Amino acid sequence: MPSPINEAAVLHSERREAVLRVTPPAALDTIFAPIRDASPDRSFVVAQLGQSLDGRIATPTGASRWINGSGALDHLHRLRAHVDAVVVGIGTIAADDPLLTVRRVEGRHPVRVVIDPNRRLPAHARCLSSGDARCIVVRTSPGATPDGAEALVLDRHGDDIAPGDIVSALFQLGLKKILVEGGASTVSKFIDAGAVDRLHVLVAPVILGSGINGLSLKPISELTEAYRPVTHVHILDEGDVLFDCDLRRTWKG
Ligand SMILES: NC(=O)c1ccc[n+]([C@@H]2O[C@H](COP(=O)([O-])OP(=O)(O)OC[C@H]3O[C@@H](n4cnc5c(N)ncnc54)[C@H](OP(=O)(O)O)[C@@H]3O)[C@@H](O)[C@H]2O)c1
Repeated sequence: MPSPINEAAVLHSERREAVLRVTPPAALDTIFAPIRDASPDRSFVVAQLGQSLDGRIATPTGASRWINGSGALDHLHRLRAHVDAVVVGIGTIAADDPLLTVRRVEGRHPVRVVIDPNRRLPAHARCLSSGDARCIVVRTSPGATPDGAEALVLDRHGDDIAPGDIVSALFQLGLKKILVEGGASTVSKFIDAGAVDRLHVLVAPVILGSGINGLSLKPISELTEAYRPVTHVHILDEGDVLFDCDLRRTWKG
């Protein structure tokens, strides 16, 4: 049986066949090797976004459940099971109120980290209610936190907390493998800051036609400035396509 990497090469040159091919879940496991084998001496950050064919991560009202199919959801839960901490922006808590636990696969729940500089995290947020994993709230000033949350206070630089500072602070807490799960603005800030090692984009065969865009990075004027990461492609169950992009191996041109 070809490895997922060989299969990706095949898919690239035989696009007609790609539509029909499903990468077996067992073979998909090698996708997680870079996370599993990451050096303990530094952080390893993987970011993910599930999106439609037209690049939307949610409808105009913020509804994003479920753009992607069950294969992509399983993949997201496998990602969570491979990391020490899962990071989301407060916009995702407001829109989806996710638990951020591992439920669809075997594995340990990651520590949940919510970036919330303006103290918008509601006391009833579901990520606070489960005692299975810690919940850390990243803020810019000390003060009371909702029950179940621990504060991590970091400086603001301009409008933002530097993603690199968040990654370093989590490393100091022993949280070395990190999943930045969303939303689009949080993932974009981490990529713009050069803080992401690996990007998983899961494209579903659905067209929303309008809604919240996926990545939005610093503008470029020439195509020669675009990131062209080394990418492996996998077809998941229900036809979602996973682009596994190595952001540490990109070329421009
Ligand atoms: N399809 C997917 O894979 C996926 C995954 C997750 C979420 N979603 C969808 O994405 C939408 C939410 O995305 P979003 O882009 O609007 O919001 P978001 O990325 O979840 O949260 C953005 C907010 O988090 C805070 N934040 C994040 N990084 C920060 C930083 N470095 N420094 C300071 N503050 C930071 C800011 O809060 P303040 O606004 O308080 O300043 C910012 O406005 C929802 O509709 C959700 O359903 C989709």
